[in-house]
Amino acid sequence: PPMDVLVLGASLRAGSLNARLAALVARLVQEAGATVHLAHMGEFVMPVYDGDIEAAEGLPPGALALSERLRLSDAVVIASPEYNASVPGGLKNAIDWVSRIRPQPFKDKHALLVSASPSLVGGNRGLWALRVPLEHLGTRVYPDMFSLAQAHEGFTDGGDLTDSGLHERLVEAVAAFLQLVEADTRYVCLRRR
Ligand code: FNR
Repeated sequence: PPMDVLVLGASLRAGSLNARLAALVARLVQEAGATVHLAHMGEFVMPVYDGDIEAAEGLPPGALALSERLRLSDAVVIASPEYNASVPGGLKNAIDWVSRIRPQPFKDKHALLVSASPSLVGGNRGLWALRVPLEHLGTRVYPDMFSLAQAHEGFTDGGDLTDSGLHERLVEAVAAFLQLVEADTRYVCLRRR
């Protein structure tokens, strides 16, 4: 079966630059022959983590839905903004909820991190911060990351990147990531036989 890749936009707002980047990556993943599930954090509504809520009610439906989506995916691409040089609270909160589920869905999952920002840093510091909880959970975070600076001017009407050199770099990063995931998925299948 083709690989299943979840592409998750981590911003909630309708005009999100990261949602546009997520849509572009989803198209590239599809063109590479994988099955894509494009989603954004707004589909997974959950309260701020509270151990009392967890004790009384268990996991909120939004966290369970995100966990299930992760479980069904061979890999995840996260397109996240940078808030104050770090991970947006909503994304960190979702990671915290999901981390309570067993088997823990982020463990051994391959992840590619991308970001978009109108600034010159492109949200790259946020991605470095995002590596910390993900790697703590055993996620295989791809070494290369992609950050789109000045993203408000970064997309063509067709949804490609305006800078063709940068567009090519993204295409290559996605292809290399998928190749790694595919090789690893095949290896795991062989080992389980
Ligand atoms: C930001 N923004 C921002 N940008 C950046 O490059 N570095 C930063 O540290 C921050 N910090 C920050 C904090 C908060 C609270 C907000 C609301 C915004 C700007 C941010 O990159 C911009 O709003 C993006 O457009 C957000 O991503 P989406 O929603 O377009 O995907």
